[in-house]
Amino acid sequence: MATLEPVTAANNPSVDVDYGTDTVTVVEDRVVGRRREVELVVAALRAGRHLLLEGPPGTGKSSMLRAIAETVHQPLEFVEGNTELTPSRLVGYFDPAQVLEQGYRPEIWIDGPLLRSLRDGCLLYLEELNRVPEETLNLLVTVMSERELTVPRLGRFEADPSFRIVAAMNPFDAIGTARLSGAIYDRMCRVAMSYQSAAEERGIAAAMVPHAVDRTHGPVLIAAAVDLVRATRDHSEIRIGSSVRGAIDLLSLAVELSALRGRELDDYDLGLDAATTAMSGRIRLHDSSAATAEDVIAELWSTIHPSHFDPVPTNGESAAGRSEEGATGGSGGKVASRRAAEPTAKNGY
Ligand SMILES: Nc1ncnc2c1ncn2[C@@H]1O[C@H](COP(=O)(O)OP(=O)(O)O)[C@@H](O)[C@H]1O
Ligand SMILES: [Mg+2]
Repeated sequence: MATLEPVTAANNPSVDVDYGTDTVTVVEDRVVGRRREVELVVAALRAGRHLLLEGPPGTGKSSMLRAIAETVHQPLEFVEGNTELTPSRLVGYFDPAQVLEQGYRPEIWIDGPLLRSLRDGCLLYLEELNRVPEETLNLLVTVMSERELTVPRLGRFEADPSFRIVAAMNPFDAIGTARLSGAIYDRMCRVAMSYQSAAEERGIAAAMVPHAVDRTHGPVLIAAAVDLVRATRDHSEIRIGSSVRGAIDLLSLAVELSALRGRELDDYDLGLDAATTAMSGRIRLHDSSAATAEDVIAELWSTIHPSHFDPVPTNGESAAGRSEEGATGGSGGKVASRRAAEPTAKNGY
């Protein structure tokens, strides 16, 4: 095992990250929309700031940060925040078995992601920050303000100039949200990530399930899937709706069901089965609701499917043609009536 030396900016082979002004343009090719958020994150990183990305799951926080890190060739250290993330899991520890034999020698130290990031100038991406135990948060506060870390029996480590912490959290997470102290907020900039527009969500779904796009009825089903997930976000019986991940899964399943059943993508039951399987576990109903998740999805599909697909095309007007006009981000039970307000499915890509 390598001997670990306290690192200073002077003796460390820094990755020397350059968040150039062209970073935003390069990242734009990999992330659908989000120009403003990418700019804000890059600006904060250029300014040497730590950052909190706050938004519901599936709003592209991880994808955006990964795209930025890859664009500037900065190593990304990914840590899942949870109640088990003790300071020693984050910083590192002396191998307990070997401590008994050898004592606290640097050779038996095992790096954790925080020390590795600090030393190597990584972007430390810490998800679910609000689930992290208090003492670990306190440690992060110290690292953020001092840009150094003292590890008992090992030494003092100065942060590489490229080191940054980017944390993410879901503001609606029921676990521990209230615990995040002012001391943490006071040391981080914050970028809110809300759901994107219907057109952008169609673009994301199309990018994630490209083999659906070329299929007959594929673009229309993409539009319907996006309308469905958006409708779950403000349905009166639903407490937690679906992110665009639900639409991505719906489409992937529909393509496979189409192969298994020999049916086209406009098939009502095929779409409903795909929707139910993709989304019934994702959405959460209010405790007071007497309905099941399956009921609610079936009800929404019964409105959304006809607003996109004709059961039988009439007057030479194709189902796809009609639906492209209505490929929208409707919500609640009023999907069909809102469709003129947004760009078409085709424009959305
Ligand atoms: N703006 C976007 N551009 C491209 N893909 C996106 C975008 N937003 C979300 N996605 C896709 O949606 C899924 C969820 O995104 P993710 O970044 O994991 O969300 P979060 O980290 O906020 O939970 C991923 O498959 C991702 O590729
Ligand atoms: Mg994520």
